[in-house]
Amino acid sequence: MTTLYTGIGELVTNDPSQGDGSALGIVTDGAFVVDDDRIAWVGQRTHAPDADSRVDLADASVIPGFVDSHAHLVFAGERSAEFAARMSGQSYAAGGIATTVAATRAADDSTLDRGLERLTGELLRGGVTTFETKSGYGLTVADEARALRLARAFTDETTFLGAHVVPQEYRDDRDGYVDLVVGPMMEACAPLARWVDVFCDRGAFDVDEARTILQAGMAAGLLPRLHAGQLELGAGIQLAVELGAASVDHCTYASGADLEALGAAADTTVATLLPGAEFSTRATWPDARRFVDAGATVALATDCNPGSSFTSSMSFCIAVAVRDMFFTPAQALWSATAGGAKALRRDDVGVLAVGRRADFVVLDAPSYVHLAYRPGVPLVRDVIANGVPLPRP
Ligand code: NIG
Ligand code: FE
Repeated sequence: MTTLYTGIGELVTNDPSQGDGSALGIVTDGAFVVDDDRIAWVGQRTHAPDADSRVDLADASVIPGFVDSHAHLVFAGERSAEFAARMSGQSYAAGGIATTVAATRAADDSTLDRGLERLTGELLRGGVTTFETKSGYGLTVADEARALRLARAFTDETTFLGAHVVPQEYRDDRDGYVDLVVGPMMEACAPLARWVDVFCDRGAFDVDEARTILQAGMAAGLLPRLHAGQLELGAGIQLAVELGAASVDHCTYASGADLEALGAAADTTVATLLPGAEFSTRATWPDARRFVDAGATVALATDCNPGSSFTSSMSFCIAVAVRDMFFTPAQALWSATAGGAKALRRDDVGVLAVGRRADFVVLDAPSYVHLAYRPGVPLVRDVIANGVPLPRP
């Protein structure tokens, strides 16, 4: 069953062989054919082939579905009081994670499942058609495995983050906790995850601990990614590059040497910037121009979590990235779609081209630029994931 979509004033494909030849591959008066769950043809409407049915989008713009490569969706409770305190002058510290760990451990499966359902619904309605989620609020063997087991019902992109922080009961025995993570916790969690991650920063894990944990994850068959440079400069970004991690995330603080390393590793390690975290912790903005000038591959993601970034909106992240991180609107859109796909080592999503997954978003706007130009406005009109339109509310 094939469907021809036409009436697209501006079609962003992320395929530079299309349209204007830019990284976004923008086709004016574009069209495409969906065959079941895949894209079967893309080009100008005047060259479109026949199809079994037609949909006229009445001059809307179309972009690839957003790929959110960094989120923490399995948790209970919320931390609005902590946010309010920060907005009254307190600073962000990794310690707040303990509050969510306590609430998550105390919650039953159905509470966690309802939370996942709510947040994944928000993501999808906001145009996110692929997303990653991490464990990291359980920090016991059973609670980390439970988080991943529940998350797997919602996404294939699950990440074992047993090394989020050292939990209170191990406060005087850090080495004992690292042994637990690389031993029994890894054994229980590796079969439930695709990725292994560590929060390598002040108040969490140092670079040697992070190396030990990531290498143990790799030995257990997981692919590495890393939180680094959120709170201070450190050796985490270089570690991610050294280990061939798919992504190093936050990079709020990155030295000249870090940027050089990311530029040299652009085909392997993506720098994922998380504007929601700087926004919600009132941190210094990283400047995207430094990353682009260094030749790094850059992704944008929500970092959706109850502490440092409680947003599921990629549109919001794009607007803030453009306004405060000096992304151009084109770079921000690419990073939120194709960049996210690279951060997850996915070549079936993030690009609208023949053979790719039919994941796309119809915007109530003449151009994707409106995502930043009209911040906070619900421009996502329709979301099509795997060729299937999401029912409108
Ligand atoms: O990515 N940086 C570490 N983890 C989360 C914050 C988690 C929390 O504060 O609950 C983040 O920002
Ligand atoms: Fe995070």
